[in-house]
Amino acid sequence: MDLFIGFRRIDSVKFPVLVLGGYGNFGGKISESLAITQGISVTVAGRSKQKSELFADQLRQRTGGKIDSVVLDINKKDFKDKIARTGVKLVIHSSGPFQGQNYDVAQACIESGIHYIDLADGRSFVNGFDRLDAKAKENNVLAVTGASSVPGLSSAVIDEYFSAFQELNEIHYGIAPGNRADRGEATVKAILSYTGRQFKRWQNSQWEDTYGWQEIHRYKFPDPVGRRWLASCDIPDLELFPGHYPSLKTVRFYAGLELGSLHLGLWLLSWLSRFRFVDNWSRYSKLVTRMSCWFQGLGTDIGAMYIQLKGIDLNGQPKILRWNLIAEDGHGPQIPTIPSIILAKKIAAGSLQEKGAKACVGLFSLMDFTEETRMWNIWQQVDEY
Ligand SMILES: NC(=O)c1ccc[n+]([C@@H]2O[C@H](COP(=O)([O-])OP(=O)(O)OC[C@H]3O[C@@H](n4cnc5c(N)ncnc54)[C@H](OP(=O)(O)O)[C@@H]3O)[C@@H](O)[C@H]2O)c1
Repeated sequence: MDLFIGFRRIDSVKFPVLVLGGYGNFGGKISESLAITQGISVTVAGRSKQKSELFADQLRQRTGGKIDSVVLDINKKDFKDKIARTGVKLVIHSSGPFQGQNYDVAQACIESGIHYIDLADGRSFVNGFDRLDAKAKENNVLAVTGASSVPGLSSAVIDEYFSAFQELNEIHYGIAPGNRADRGEATVKAILSYTGRQFKRWQNSQWEDTYGWQEIHRYKFPDPVGRRWLASCDIPDLELFPGHYPSLKTVRFYAGLELGSLHLGLWLLSWLSRFRFVDNWSRYSKLVTRMSCWFQGLGTDIGAMYIQLKGIDLNGQPKILRWNLIAEDGHGPQIPTIPSIILAKKIAAGSLQEKGAKACVGLFSLMDFTEETRMWNIWQQVDEY
């Protein structure tokens, strides 16, 4: 049975989810995964009528699902009113960058009684999100920030192996996408926003200063990835984890570009920003995204992530556990979308009853993630020393 609510028709049987940025790089993948999920209907949203309708049409043809589209601009005054009138029960917000973004979207959803999930990787955005907790509880909704690779997947991996340690002291981790992967401007803008900029990191039980896209080094992933360049990045986990895992003395996070020329090129740009020749590279995100696409035919379609945990094992001996995630056949860009998909499915099925506003920590397990990756060529390897 269909109902007419507000200005759109929604299917009363299926759980209606709206994906903001729903035809973007990651949002598009989220829309597609949810469109093939039984019991969920999808509305694709963004600022462009043409792009949202075209994407919804293509998705309808590919999946046979009931896909709607709607024009929404998160910066417009009528956003709250429009989102309330869609009649959806969950919004997944992928319209980054989240660095410098306020909580208007989350607040609009909470006040309209709509569950909310975002892919935020902005440090202050994620760490200040719990100020929405009381309102979310009052309105009986769940609002989750950072439901993506960090801190969603990173915390699920740590939680999985946490019990193998009497004391977990250090976490070093990094993400290295394959160069052939599509890139969205919002992600490029997010990285450029801290390239060469100073930020704090928990090192030997105190806060030390470091700089975005510096400390370059190589990390050896399992075959077929091999050695990849990595550089220091500013993410929510750097502030979130020392409080969440109190025995931690050091938390370091890195990301890298597969092509040495691009990785080192960005490193050179970081020095210009560190020495204040350039204030903030993010204003050049369109140009940088376009230029990086010129090289997209080079390198591989294999992405990787690692998390190294170091501490004392249950017998009182030093222990290192290294978790590696390898994504082949161009499936790497699915990884940042999976946490939001897992949560959306849980909320739709009624199996996640928690209410309030919180960072994506402890809401899904590594087993949930592994289940969700079965349809992709994504595999994990764990080495212990
Ligand atoms: N936490 C993590 O681990 C993690 C990992 C990866 C990515 N991310 C984050 O995920 C976000 C999405 O990345 P992406 O690569 O998918 O970006 P993208 O391809 O640029 O997609 C952004 C989408 O948002 C839409 N949009 C932009 N401004 C909007 C506005 N004012 N109102 C409504 N829609 C708007 C865009 O369409 P229009 O411009 O046509 O409106 C586009 O569809 C980024 O912020 C990135 O930092 C987080």
